[in-house]
Amino acid sequence: MPPETAWDRSTVAPSRLAAWWSRTNWPRRIQAALQGLKAICPPLSTFYLFFVIFVLSTIFHCHRRLSLVPAPWASSALVVLSPRHLPREGMFTINVRGRLGNQMGEYATLFALARMNGRLAFIPASMHSTLAPIFRISLPVLHSDTARRIPWQKYHLNDWMEERYRHIPGHYVRFTGYPCSWTFYHHLRPEILKEFTLHDHVREEAQAFLRGLRVNGSQPSTFVGVHVRRGDYVHVMPKVWKGVVADRGYLEKALDMFRARYSSPVFVVTSDDMSWCRKSIVASRGDVAFAGNGLQGSPAKDIALLMQCNHTVITLGTFGIWAAYLTGGDTVYLANFTQPSSPFHKVFKPEAAYLPEWVGIAADLEQPNRGAPGHASARAPKSHQRTLL
Ligand SMILES: *[C@@H]1O[C@H](CO)[C@@H](O)[C@H](O)[C@H]1NC(C)=O
Ligand SMILES: *[C@@H]1O[C@H](CO)[C@@H](O)[C@H](O)[C@H]1NC(C)=O
Ligand SMILES: *[C@@H]1O[C@H](CO)[C@@H](O)[C@H](O)[C@H]1NC(C)=O
Repeated sequence: MPPETAWDRSTVAPSRLAAWWSRTNWPRRIQAALQGLKAICPPLSTFYLFFVIFVLSTIFHCHRRLSLVPAPWASSALVVLSPRHLPREGMFTINVRGRLGNQMGEYATLFALARMNGRLAFIPASMHSTLAPIFRISLPVLHSDTARRIPWQKYHLNDWMEERYRHIPGHYVRFTGYPCSWTFYHHLRPEILKEFTLHDHVREEAQAFLRGLRVNGSQPSTFVGVHVRRGDYVHVMPKVWKGVVADRGYLEKALDMFRARYSSPVFVVTSDDMSWCRKSIVASRGDVAFAGNGLQGSPAKDIALLMQCNHTVITLGTFGIWAAYLTGGDTVYLANFTQPSSPFHKVFKPEAAYLPEWVGIAADLEQPNRGAPGHASARAPKSHQRTLL
């Protein structure tokens, strides 16, 4: 497609345009149709020609230069950033690793470190596609075409704040690692909560589910979100990290703490393994609801439900940590779930992951290895080890 300046009306005669048009390899049918038009009404066909070229070139340019928003309700975060006009104060961005919980941690850490260091923060398009359909995030997107041309310096982050992160050298810095710790961003909590505000329709869907719940025939006033993370952890925890996942004993203790503290609370269970939850969580009291008819929900629906509850019970993983952090109520978590000799302690500091006011219940490290089937591979794939935090 030639540049738009070639189509200056005053200098390019319509007949020359038509000549160019007929030299090109457009399908014959279009040519025939346009010629027919020209024969009937030459000025009109010229107008159509201009119009078609204008529309095509606009679409072409937009497509190249704007990152596409994944859904109609997503916040618009379109950025046209020319590599020749990069911000002089420098830019920070971050590698996208893991699923929703990991990416929320990466987003919030980037947000906070850019603020601390006086730089602009840009998120990769893939992070935008994960987060923007759920939350009203505001950080601009860096298109991959532009990102490729920037001379990035990589900078590894541990999963806890360190003094040196206040003075990060380099102008164009791309963070790596799996940061998901309140120690990076808790001083900006109101802004982080704002970034992770749900879109109205996402919140409303969760509210509609909660409104339908009854305990003893009446609408409960206390909602406790329960997140049970299993999936790959069932294998990775014992095999790689010398640890355990939450068992039914932990969940019973955690739920009982809320039953003791609040009158007739309802528990809203979300999980990546709903069939295990249905077998393992006692529902006979009539105060346990399995979200999404007991089938596995989408992460977006699950986090919205958990966030609309008043309090949170979590097991392992960044998804639950985020649900609890954003809910801001009483939180109970699974503590000390790895052996003292576990390599996990090198990459994970519990005091940087769980807020001091949250209540830990120690895991039963002697629990029979119910969750791990005999056919589990002796070592988990490397990617699991890295996305675990
Ligand atoms: C339901 O009501 C009965 C009778 O008042 C009470 O004993 C029971 O604890 C209630 N159940 C729940 C889950 O609150
Ligand atoms: C608890 O959560 C419900 C459902 O989101 C909400 O309507 C209610 O206001 C919350 N209660 C408190 C005390 O925040
Ligand atoms: C976890 O272990 C540490 C170190 O042994 C201990 O201080 C802490 O109280 C334990 N946490 C819980 C919830 O039992």
